[in-house]
Amino acid sequence: MATFPITFRSDSASIHDEHQRLLMALSELASALEAMGPSSLSVDPLGAGRVRRSAGRLQDLLPSHFRHEETVLFDAVAPVSPELTEFARQMRREHGQFTARLTEFVAAVARLESGDGGGRSFAGVKEEGELLSHDIAAHIALEEQQLDGFL
Ligand SMILES: [Fe+2]
Ligand SMILES: [Fe+2]
Repeated sequence: MATFPITFRSDSASIHDEHQRLLMALSELASALEAMGPSSLSVDPLGAGRVRRSAGRLQDLLPSHFRHEETVLFDAVAPVSPELTEFARQMRREHGQFTARLTEFVAAVARLESGDGGGRSFAGVKEEGELLSHDIAAHIALEEQQLDGFL
């Protein structure tokens, strides 16, 4: 039988608020990527700097959000049903993948900014940034949908 701590309601509301802040940071990253212009042109270091700062903002927000979600939300809802157990497992796995991808992405952008592509093309880095922000937004949307009633 699942037990929900007394603070569950306020904790889950704050997770919902964190999702809103993350969505704003993702939208800023998407704008920064867009503002870099077509990847057929050369990299503008100022534009790459904006992308790096936007991704850095996500790096500031994500670790505490993931930790919060895993300890407060997933640990409480996972025992409710086998489906929620599996869902929590999948979300945890994705957290690890996003953290690794974001670290890699920020490093690649920093190399572009300094004029050293490090073997990654502008197009490749831009595409990964777009894909990563899409994937994180989809992850958040899925959590909000699956955990509707808890958040
Ligand atoms: Fe999550
Ligand atoms: Fe989340």
